[in-house]
Amino acid sequence: MSNFNLRSIESSDMLTILEWSNDSETRKQSFNSSPISLEEHKAWFNRKLASVSEKQCYFYILENDSTPIGSIRLDPINEEKSSYIISYMISPKQRGLGYGTKIIKSLIDLLDEGFIIAKPVSLLAYVKPGNKASIRCFQKLGFEQKDKNISDSELVFHLSIC
Ligand SMILES: CC(C)(COP(=O)(O)OP(=O)(O)OC[C@H]1O[C@@H](n2cnc3c(N)ncnc32)[C@H](O)[C@@H]1OP(=O)(O)O)[C@@H](O)C(=O)NCCC(=O)NCCS
Repeated sequence: MSNFNLRSIESSDMLTILEWSNDSETRKQSFNSSPISLEEHKAWFNRKLASVSEKQCYFYILENDSTPIGSIRLDPINEEKSSYIISYMISPKQRGLGYGTKIIKSLIDLLDEGFIIAKPVSLLAYVKPGNKASIRCFQKLGFEQKDKNISDSELVFHLSIC
């Protein structure tokens, strides 16, 4: 039987995150599509780990038993830390199996409990218009598309957790 678990990021996840990030589809769907070097990634990843330990950001891995399936991150966009940008990806080998939806839902369930961040929490996602799978994930989970997108190349989805 499958045993899914959302756990906090660890230093040992560094290379897995680099591999998933440098996958061609991930680069294509990112707003900065350049490949990421190991050095650049290490510096970024270590900054994120420090932010996680200071509760300045939240970064999780979805596992099935002990196999990592995907990652999801929340970065605050305001001083009050009530609005966050979601970034997420699924391991290239495990896409199309419902895990994109599952990882966002697992995070929403965690936020709904109100233990990690005080509610209400506002979630924002910036998605490229061609990223059909991601658009579908957010729509299925009740995110609303904002009328005013930042540009034609960026859709904005929003969900409030009260
Ligand atoms: C976006 C991403 C996370 C989706 O994860 P996933 O596990 O493949 O998605 P799911 O299997 O949960 O599929 C979600 C929905 O999209 C649909 N879908 C999947 N691929 C699709 C495609 N190419 N075109 C249209 N719909 C698609 C699925 O059918 C499903 O809808 P359904 O439940 O109505 O059938 C994954 O593709 C990924 O990691 N992409 C690269 C990184 C990325 O784009 N991150 C998000 C940035 S906003």
